[in-house]
Amino acid sequence: MGFPFFDHPLTLELLRQTERGLREFLDPSVAAVLEAGNYAFDAGGKRLRPLLLLLVARGLGASDGELRERILPLAVGIEYIHTASLLHDDVVDEAETRRGRAAAHRVFGNGVAVLTGDYMYASALYLYSVYGSAEAIAVVSEAVKRMAEGQVLELKRVGELIDEETYFAVVDGKTSALFAAAAAVGALAAGAAELKDLFWDFGLRLGRAFQLVDDALDYAGNPTEVGKPVGQDLREGKATYPLLSVLDGLDPEEVKRALLTGEGADRLVNLVRKLGGVVKTKERARLELEAARRILEKSPLKGEERELLLSLVDFVVERTY
Ligand code: FPP
Ligand code: MG
Repeated sequence: MGFPFFDHPLTLELLRQTERGLREFLDPSVAAVLEAGNYAFDAGGKRLRPLLLLLVARGLGASDGELRERILPLAVGIEYIHTASLLHDDVVDEAETRRGRAAAHRVFGNGVAVLTGDYMYASALYLYSVYGSAEAIAVVSEAVKRMAEGQVLELKRVGELIDEETYFAVVDGKTSALFAAAAAVGALAAGAAELKDLFWDFGLRLGRAFQLVDDALDYAGNPTEVGKPVGQDLREGKATYPLLSVLDGLDPEEVKRALLTGEGADRLVNLVRKLGGVVKTKERARLELEAARRILEKSPLKGEERELLLSLVDFVVERTY
């Protein structure tokens, strides 16, 4: 993918196993579920959460055999939860596109999209019950609870100007929690339960930065690379960090009108960019990533996995997609 992290032989091998696992562990007897599920997988995706889980587990001493037989299903389960959440999110957001293609609900209908998401979520918990532990199930359930809370919090404030604290409460729920769970499960799967909280925090910081950059790309990304049009958040009535970071230079009435009605959204997107909202958002993301880096450096995780996780940290802020 043109970035060192994705070109590394270990990343490529873990990605290959993840892609195979995603399809192997999903075995619905109803064709439409398989069709919608494969549609969601085929759209691609960076598979960052399963990679994070696998790299943490391997870096903390899990063998390649353990990785393949016992830990890969947990990584696949995390991606199932992520995919389920996107299937649901696109229905909630009434999004037209996802990853550069028509969103699944636009192809299969809301019912099939939501229920396929339910099927994937249940498949994930099944994998955790067979290959994980009660503690790992607790970690992922906690993440999904926070995701749903984050989504509801966001939904309740659509069309409104929120403050930074609310913004981060939304982000920590909808995005950071699953990154946190992926890293924490990686530690648990390697038999390092004492490092669960440390890696949860590592994932949380990484997830926060990931969402900040996502929100920056919404204002300044290349729509072909990002897979969705510029300014979508504002048009959906969502006040995200780029906007919040330059509020002082904006007319509050204009901002409120754009959030509530979409009127003047394009003009406002350009203004936010001119005022440095995108740069400020990436700076804020870098702060989170520095914290993530410090956590990793004080952890006992060493070797090529540590280098790769550091390279993943760099990717999160440098990415253009
Ligand atoms: C995308 O956010 C949405 C999420 C990251 C999380 C969605 C979570 C849920 C629907 C709750 C959990 C549900 C299940 C079944 C596990 P966004 O709308 O900001 O990003 P986008 O621009 O990519 O759509
Ligand atoms: Mg969305």
